[in-house]
Amino acid sequence: MLQVSGMFYTDDGVLTGPENTAGYTEEEIRVAGSVLGTVGAGQLKKIQREYMERHPHHIPLIFMADIINGFRTVFPIPLAQGCTFDPKLVEEGAAVAARESAASGLHLTFSPMADLVRDARWGRVMESTGEDAWLNGCFARAMVEGYQGRSGLREKGRIAACVKHFAGYGAPTAGRDYNTVELSERTLRDDYLPAYKEAIDAGAATVMTSFNTLDRIPSSANRRLMRDILRGEMGFEGVLISDWAAIEELCSHGVARDKEEAARLALEAGVDIDMMTNCYCRHLKELVESGAVSSALIDEAVLRILKLKNDLGLFEDPYKDADEREEKVLVLCDEHRKTARRMAAESFVLLKNDGILPLAGERTAFIGPYVANAEIYGAWSMFGTPETTVSIEQGIKNRGCGHAYFAEGCILSADFGRSEETAGKLLQEAVELAQKADKVVLALGEHRLQSGEAASRADITLPDCQMELFRQVCAVNKNVVVVLFSGRPLDIREICGQAAAVLAVWMPGTEGGNAIADVLFGDVNPSGRLSMSFPYSVGQVPIFYGQFRTGRPYIEGTEEKYFSRYLDIPNRPLYPFGYGLSYTTFAIGPVQLSAQQMRRTDRLRVTVTVKNTGTVGGSEVVQMYLADVNGSVARPVRELRGFCKVRLEPGEESEVSFEITEEMLRFHDIHMDYVSEPGVFRVFVGDCSETENGAAFVLE
Ligand code: GLC
Repeated sequence: MLQVSGMFYTDDGVLTGPENTAGYTEEEIRVAGSVLGTVGAGQLKKIQREYMERHPHHIPLIFMADIINGFRTVFPIPLAQGCTFDPKLVEEGAAVAARESAASGLHLTFSPMADLVRDARWGRVMESTGEDAWLNGCFARAMVEGYQGRSGLREKGRIAACVKHFAGYGAPTAGRDYNTVELSERTLRDDYLPAYKEAIDAGAATVMTSFNTLDRIPSSANRRLMRDILRGEMGFEGVLISDWAAIEELCSHGVARDKEEAARLALEAGVDIDMMTNCYCRHLKELVESGAVSSALIDEAVLRILKLKNDLGLFEDPYKDADEREEKVLVLCDEHRKTARRMAAESFVLLKNDGILPLAGERTAFIGPYVANAEIYGAWSMFGTPETTVSIEQGIKNRGCGHAYFAEGCILSADFGRSEETAGKLLQEAVELAQKADKVVLALGEHRLQSGEAASRADITLPDCQMELFRQVCAVNKNVVVVLFSGRPLDIREICGQAAAVLAVWMPGTEGGNAIADVLFGDVNPSGRLSMSFPYSVGQVPIFYGQFRTGRPYIEGTEEKYFSRYLDIPNRPLYPFGYGLSYTTFAIGPVQLSAQQMRRTDRLRVTVTVKNTGTVGGSEVVQMYLADVNGSVARPVRELRGFCKVRLEPGEESEVSFEITEEMLRFHDIHMDYVSEPGVFRVFVGDCSETENGAAFVLE
């Protein structure tokens, strides 16, 4: 019942250490049920062996860690993985992470994070696959299947998944981490719950509670959310683990007077494991003995945990896949690196290109704080290292790119980097290099720790030192490509106004530098499409394509005053969900429907042709959106309900089809029943969420 952080283990295997923030006693730690954050086949086998010898019932430990975007082979951050629109590839990445971490002795990862995100101020948008609930469900399923496989948790090289953070953590008020979440029941059910459900339906072994309140009730004490919705409606029968210290934090929320009451509330809500506090191990016994808590609640929690350990096969083999030799062979092997490189290249989104890309060996100056910086694996990569990560400079040198020159230009940011003492020298060196070059690639971005947990930002622009570098380079060379590193969409209005090209590479992981070279030189044609809108300004957030018409829908560009609009900025984002350019062009033909009338039992077929009308091979992400024109409640202007990534050679044409079923049209109506309603629907099929290429049908 107790979660213990691995950092408590010392060489002699005895749990101790100053980090014992939860104040566990030696005895409490000796009977802990799981360990968080320690990895390594040798170390974990040693811990397990000594623990089993001492444990009164010889019940094995379960080893857990945050393998969010890869283990030692680090993949792009999940927000970037969402931009691949390639769930199969993302499943492959999760399977690689499972193989590496299982060989290192791990049994469970705290992933996928299936939180819906629409506010770029929130640092944890980097952990989500984006602003669309349906797309997030596709990726959450893919990650669960990649981690767990399809033939049971005992399968070699598989680890248990943990879908998080249940529920609604991605909508903190004002974009400030851990803040209150205010969602209507309908918004919660139509938008925020579906991706968790997809992961649970995929068989996720565990779920993690979220830090936030919903309806002013902290999730870890929310019986309705956990027992009625998660277990009752969604049918989840696995282990529910609290987030880090979330049970004790019921006291900070002010809904528990002390840790004893916190323990009672959490257990009554159905939380099985207390992560990193001693509420459970210190108080459950006395709560049962006093009759305040039924022992049946303890039994059900313990049974679920024992079942999880049994499903993992730990009673037969407490070491599961831990194997030092296998660990050495698998970790960062060429095959895994190849997968990481392919996924990184597929996650990049070409936001602007006046024709300057792809590069062709001209005299090119690679300038910026991210040219040589190899810390490009995101905030949640505990096990990636700069030494095992390919920077841009290394990637360019690996490829051999003719006349390539390199300069730092400026530090990453005064907050995170060295002091400004060398700023003038760095800038001058960079400007001189830019003057002599045919083209300049400026590698800019936010620090990897400016996103992730506890990393909300009210200002989502680049640091002044980087913008100064950008302006001074643009002043001496018009051929500027910006390669943008970030854990979130940023306000890049000025950059996009002046640069000749902009490539969003997010935090690309171990093979980032090689993948960037692949795309910059056209070895790989970029095919990423935004899984989260780039706002025109932070004043727009939360912003997402599936908004509502309102009673006064504003038509961009008109001067009408009394409409839903701003005085100073447009309503449209800078770049919308689903958007991304290619080195070729595609034409998507008119939408053909198999019928104009649809009975509830019909499957309506939607077909378009897509043609590569350019000069190089590439992939287009054909997206299908549905719009329920009228409903008993307001309906989103459109919702993604299909996508297909299709590879075409120049001149090649293909047919892409989707099917519409009645269940795809359902939502929570005025009575909160989950139904579809008869009426007119519009179907849009195109290359981004703003496509007007559409047709209509009537649901009878
Ligand atoms: C953190 C995060 C959660 C993570 C857990 C264990 O606070 O909220 O996502 O899995 O603690 O590290």
